[in-house]
Parts: sequence; C-alpha cells; structure tokens
Amino acid sequence: MIITIDGPAGVGKGTIAKIISKSLGFKYLDSGAMYRALALFAELNGVTEKDSNKLKKILIDLHIQFVDSQDGERVLVNTDDVTEDIRTNEISTLASKFAANNFVRTILREMQRRLVKNKDYIAEGRDMGTYVFPDAKYKFYLDADLAIRAKRRAGQLKEILGIAINEDRVSKEISDRDNLDMTRESCPLHPADDAVIINTTDMNIDDVVRKIESVINSA
Ligand code: DC
Repeated sequence: MIITIDGPAGVGKGTIAKIISKSLGFKYLDSGAMYRALALFAELNGVTEKDSNKLKKILIDLHIQFVDSQDGERVLVNTDDVTEDIRTNEISTLASKFAANNFVRTILREMQRRLVKNKDYIAEGRDMGTYVFPDAKYKFYLDADLAIRAKRRAGQLKEILGIAINEDRVSKEISDRDNLDMTRESCPLHPADDAVIINTTDMNIDDVVRKIESVINSA
C-alpha cells in the first residue's frame, strides 16, 4: 500500500511522514533527498541543470541508497554518505533547479517506483500523489503560512547543521523554491484532486499525525 504526503518546503512533511511510517510499520520514501543527492552529485561533477547532455551521462553513474543505521536513515550516493551534505541551503536551491529538468524527473520517478514495488510505503515529496503514485490509497497535501514554515525550517536546519540560521533568509529561500517548484512545466507542485488538504499553520506535529491517522482509520 502507498500513502503519499506532498506539500511545499518547511511544512513538516518529513517529520510527519517518518512518525506515521513507524506507527503503521511502513517504509518511508524521502523523494526530496533523492533530488538533493542528485544535485550534490552533479555539482561535484561540475554539471549544471542546464547541461542536459552531460547530465544524462552522469545520471548513468548515480546510485542513491537509503540505509538504516543506529543514527537513523543514511543517504548514500554510490558509496559516499551524503546525509548531512545534502541538507544545506545551497543544495536545497540547487535541488529545486535540477528538479525542473524533465529528464531528471523521469529517471528519479522510475527509481522511486522501483524502490517501493510490492512494499508498504509512505512516499513524501512534491509530486508523489499527483505524478509518481497516482493510484496511491491515501493522499495528503500539507500546507502552512510562509512565516511559520520559515520558522520550522530554520529550527530544523539549526538542529541538523548545528549553526544559527537567519529566519528571513530561510523565508526567502523557501518562497523562491516554492515558486520554482509550483511553476515548472514538468510535474509542478499542486495537490492531487483526491488529496486530503491539511493546513498545519495552527497545528502541532501531534495534531497533524492524529488527523492523518483518523483519515486512514476511518476509511
Ligand atoms: O523536500 P525537499 O526540501 O528535500 O526537496 C528538495 C527539492 O527537491 C524541492 O525544492 C523540489 C525537489 N523535489 C521535487 O521536485 N519533487 C519531489 N517529489 C521532491 C523534491
């Protein structure tokens, strides 16, 4: 069974998807981490999002793996652990740029479908319920005001990277990124017609988890 959770940057999708995947005993697909891993790999190979020919060549050598460890799930690109390196603001912006490339999306969509095949998954990202898993059993779209998303994201970055983060900068970064993710031609971010839309501005994590679980349990 596939359950999808989509929404803009900083809305808390990752945190919530992880909690729900644990409580249901499902696996968790962090599709954003795949776009981030690809962006880092391309950058290290000196390839930009505009260079489709070079991009096609390096994508053949890209192997992204999610590996469980004592410190939680680790993201590997080929054999390198990039878990922390893909969480910087620079990679966030770069991932969004590469994500607008149709060829990149086709390759990652295939990887995502292969990964979840015949398994129970919570798939989280921007296009999980709309384009990657249109037949998912339950679909959720989380949203929240920009100011609260910037605050949440700054807190999260501080925790992951251990440095103080300027909230205004984060706000600009996520609004620019949302803009790019919502207006690109290839699989833009929008709620699926059959998604349950939850505005989490005035909700805490437990409220959102309870709301999602109540939808699943009442079906
Ligand atoms: O969820 P995230 O912040 O880790 O995602 C980083 C970028 O990757 C996001 O700005 C757009 C892109 N992305 C996407 O286009 N489609 C997805 N399913 C997930 C992420």
